Parts: sequence; C-alpha cells; structure tokens
Amino acid sequence: MSPKEFRIAAIPADGVGREVVEAGKTVLDAIEADGGGRFAFAWEEFPWGSDYFAEHGRMMAEDGLETLQAFDAIYFGAVGWPTVPDHVSLWGLRLAICQGFDQWANLRPVRFLPGIESPLRKADRTDLDWVVVRENSEGEYAGFGGHTFASREGRGEVAVQSALFTEVGCERIIKYAFELARTRPRKKVSSVTKSNAQQYGMVLWDRVFQRVAADYPDVETESVLVDAMSAKFVLQPEELSVVVASNLFADILSDLGSALAGSLGLAPSANLNPERRFPSMFEPVHGSAPDIAGQGVCNPIGAFGSAAMMLDHFGLKAEAEGLDAAIEAATAQGIRTRDVGGTAKTAEVTEAVIANLPARR
Ligand code: NAI
Ligand code: MG
Repeated sequence: MSPKEFRIAAIPADGVGREVVEAGKTVLDAIEADGGGRFAFAWEEFPWGSDYFAEHGRMMAEDGLETLQAFDAIYFGAVGWPTVPDHVSLWGLRLAICQGFDQWANLRPVRFLPGIESPLRKADRTDLDWVVVRENSEGEYAGFGGHTFASREGRGEVAVQSALFTEVGCERIIKYAFELARTRPRKKVSSVTKSNAQQYGMVLWDRVFQRVAADYPDVETESVLVDAMSAKFVLQPEELSVVVASNLFADILSDLGSALAGSLGLAPSANLNPERRFPSMFEPVHGSAPDIAGQGVCNPIGAFGSAAMMLDHFGLKAEAEGLDAAIEAATAQGIRTRDVGGTAKTAEVTEAVIANLPARR
C-alpha cells in the first residue's frame, strides 16, 4: 500500500514562531517514522514574515494564497516583530490567511497538564478542561472602519472601528460549538457577548444562539456577558465545557485560559475551514515572544498540541491521541521550560515528547 501523503506548508514567520515550528516538525517527523509507512508528511517551508517584509515590502508573496491552496494544512509559528507595526504584520500574514481561506472556526482548547502548576488552586483538586470556540472571520476583526483628520495629529484625529456580525457568521460558529459539545463528556455551551452595551451585533448573536440552542435540547446552555465570563474562568472554571465567543472576546479569553493552565506557551489552536474548501491552519496561541526569542528556551508545547490537532484533522486519530499522551507524559516527568517553572530548553522538551511517543515508551 502506498502511504497517504499529507502536504504541509510550514510558515514559521517570526521570533519563537521559528523555534516552535522547527520543534513541531521534528516531532511530526518522528511520528511519521513510527507510522510504518502508512502515511507521510511532505513539507514545504515558506520564508514569509517580518524579514520578508524588510526585503519585499509585503508579509507574504503576492500569490501566497494560491500557493497555499495546494496544501492539506498550514503549520504556523507566530508573526510580529518590532521592525514592522503589529497591525501590518498581523493583517499581512495571519489574518490574510484566516480570512482568505475562510477559516471561520478557531478552536482553542484550555488543557491542564500534569506536572504544570496552575495559578488556580482549584486546578489541583478539580478536573478542568474546556475549549474556547472563536468566531474567526468577522466580528471585531472584520477590518471595517477608517480614520480621518490624520494631519491633525494631537488635535482631533478620528478613527472608527466597527464590528461586523452576520446571521450566517453567527449561526455557523454557534452550530459548530453545539456539535462540538455533543462530543464532550459535559454537553454544555456557554455563549459570551456584551449585548447589554453592544446592542446591535451582539443582540443578533444572542438571538441566533437561542434559536440554534432549540435544535440541541440535549445540550445545556448559558449566555454570559464577557466581563462576568472572565471572572467565571477564574472562579468557576469547572462549570465550563465549550465557550463560544466573538473574534475579539475569544482571543482575550483564550489567553486568560492558557495563563490559568500555566503559560501562554502551552495553548494550541486550530483555524478551521470546516467545509474543507481551503486548507486549515494550526498554530500555537502565543505570539512571537521577542523577549525570549533566539535563546532556545521557549515552550514548544502549544505548537505540539497544535500539531496533534492537525493530525486529528488529517484523520490520524490514534497518532493525535498518542502525541497528546506523549505531551502529558513529558510534563509529568517534570521536563519543563522556564515559563512553567523548569530549566529545560526547547530541544530537551522536544526530545522528551518524542521519547514518550507510544511506539517508543
Ligand atoms: P506573546 O505571546 O508573544 O508574548 C507574551 C508573553 O508570553 C511574553 O512574556 C512571552 O515571553 C511569553 N510567551 C509567549 N510564547 C511563549 C512560549 N512559547 N514559551 C514561553 N513563553 C512564551 O505576545 P506579545 O508580547 O503581546 O506579542 C509579541 C508579538 O507577537 C507582537 O508582534 C504581536 O503582534 C505578535 N502576536 C502574534 C500572534 C500570532 O501570530 N498568532 C498572537 C499574539 C501576538
Ligand atoms: Mg491572542
């Protein structure tokens, strides 16, 4: 039988993004080697990011999306460097891909790992495990707005930044959240808005939520305002299973979630085009971390978890579970980077995870 080949576009981009993508490729190559020839990963790496910008005046090649279309998935690092304004680098690469490929569902699991201390005391005696489902195509990141009177800087410059909510956009992400909830031990969806103050878009979201919920009588629901939800993350996290929120709110809440799990460096994510018309993109939640980049000390666990989500997307369920188990085994052994209280280098965590893959234990 010829192996099933998965074409993966690697975009390490900037800072620690390069280190964690390198580490993730090493782990995935080990998984391929353990696969007994059943599947293979064909990698191509793209040099896009802030250095590319310095040379070409753009964050990615002009035909970048056309090139990426041919791949089964994109494995992304992080984008952003002090040499390029953050809104230029983010819109020029990560958001260009997410929006260009209609990756409208962004899954961000919040996982508590053995051997990693959470700032929540509750985490020691409670099983905590929830997933943030982020609307990834519109909302506050629709790029809708403008500014004027720029020449009056300091004397009345004006900017408008609008959030865009569509019924179709709300409905598809909310349905996705309900379907996901059905696959989890606790069948519950918490919807997050701020519809008391944001009386148009978020009221539409709430209405769609109620309508969709009626089709899922087996799933518990709650609607929580975002400020209250941030408190709930800290005080009653055991009440959470699937948390669905707009682009901005879910972005913020997922950073809070990963900090509660112990570090921003732990959190994985998947930007999915559920219809599979376009490639989906897998990336750690964290940014390029310029403060620690280039030292070989960043935490690769978020990138490994993202690789596991990519394996799952490929239908390699056993390999995805094996990688997640290997991550847990490595942290349980106390092999941890600095951000989670250890002394291990990125490469040592990588070796430990590989050593704990099912075929190697
Ligand atoms: P950041 O996530 O890069 O860093 C925040 C803090 O978390 C820093 O103290 C950093 O050292 C730490 N951290 C992040 N990843 C880590 C890892 N793997 N291991 C250990 N510690 C880690 O966020 P920040 O500082 O706000 O942004 C830096 C740059 O990254 C900016 O240019 C920003 O625009 C960009 N960014 C890009 C994202 C993406 O590509 N998806 C997401 C967030 C920010
Ligand atoms: Mg973020």
